[in-house]
Amino acid sequence: MEGSGARLVPGNVDYCIVGYPVRGSASPSIYNRFFKERGLGLRYGVCELPNRVRVPQFLEEARARLRGFNVTIPYKETVLGLLDDVDPVAVDIGAVNTVKTGDGRLWGTNTDWLGFVEPLLEMAGPPERERSVIVGAGGAARAAAYALVERGLSCDIHVYGRRPERLRGFEEHAEGRGWGRCVETHLVEGGVLRDREALEGAGLLVNATPLGSYAYPGRMPVEPTLLHSGLIVFDMVYNPVVTPLIRAAMEAGAVVVDGLCMLVWQARENIRIWTGLEAEVHELRRYALDFLEGAQG
Ligand SMILES: NC(=O)c1ccc[n+]([C@@H]2O[C@H](COP(=O)([O-])OP(=O)(O)OC[C@H]3O[C@@H](n4cnc5c(N)ncnc54)[C@H](OP(=O)(O)O)[C@@H]3O)[C@@H](O)[C@H]2O)c1
Repeated sequence: MEGSGARLVPGNVDYCIVGYPVRGSASPSIYNRFFKERGLGLRYGVCELPNRVRVPQFLEEARARLRGFNVTIPYKETVLGLLDDVDPVAVDIGAVNTVKTGDGRLWGTNTDWLGFVEPLLEMAGPPERERSVIVGAGGAARAAAYALVERGLSCDIHVYGRRPERLRGFEEHAEGRGWGRCVETHLVEGGVLRDREALEGAGLLVNATPLGSYAYPGRMPVEPTLLHSGLIVFDMVYNPVVTPLIRAAMEAGAVVVDGLCMLVWQARENIRIWTGLEAEVHELRRYALDFLEGAQG
């Protein structure tokens, strides 16, 4: 068992991802390949933290020993309140996923919203209808909703979730940050959307739940017969890349954007923030695919 004095940040790394669980994350492979290909001599590790009580200790170690780190489930909200400086974008979204260190300070931002909206526009273009549907009401759903409002793509956003308190929290946050007028939340049993009318007039469907991921194989966040060719379907799940939702959306004639796009677009932004260097999304996607194919083989 780990003693309370044990180090949390792995030795000899410059960056890491902190969360729980994080062992299956593609992020270390993406950044380490990039650092290696560019001959930067930098290393990116994993910090698995089962208990939030130790987040402050992690942050103190990170401040002294890391150049930066990523934050993932379940600490994106926790970390927001513990940093020295926070980008207003992260405050608007209510979650931090990227931290840069320097001069003994920790500065946090959120790049998930760019990881969502940039590939959406590049791969699919703006949705043709104002109504947007998001299934899931966590931090990634907030980032997506914020992005749609911020970029003027939608102010008719319907968020579906399985827990009233989570939905209330979503609405209260959006109202508190000035974009609540664009959001309506709905409770659905089991968190799965089965209401035909919800998608009939919609131009965009976003899956911001883990349904369809390796943890929930074969599951869909919506009833597949609801999908239609007027939709852009954005699935945030990236492992597997072709989820049941992506497959069903393609069969329905919808335009699809997969979760790997989100992962690599936000990784490109993180690389910019940490190193000032420009990465190509296709090279980062190749690194992620190599990792995922290796993990499956
Ligand atoms: N591709 C990328 O780069 C990227 C980036 C960020 C996130 N993501 C993915 O996006 C998803 C959401 O991330 P997040 O940070 O928003 O997570 P989160 O804060 O934990 O929120 C997850 C949402 O999904 C719901 N949910 C969880 N398990 C469910 C189940 N079995 N059935 C129905 N609903 C369920 C949760 O409902 P409760 O509140 O009731 O639990 C919550 O509304 C995750 O799969 C994550 O891996 C991908």
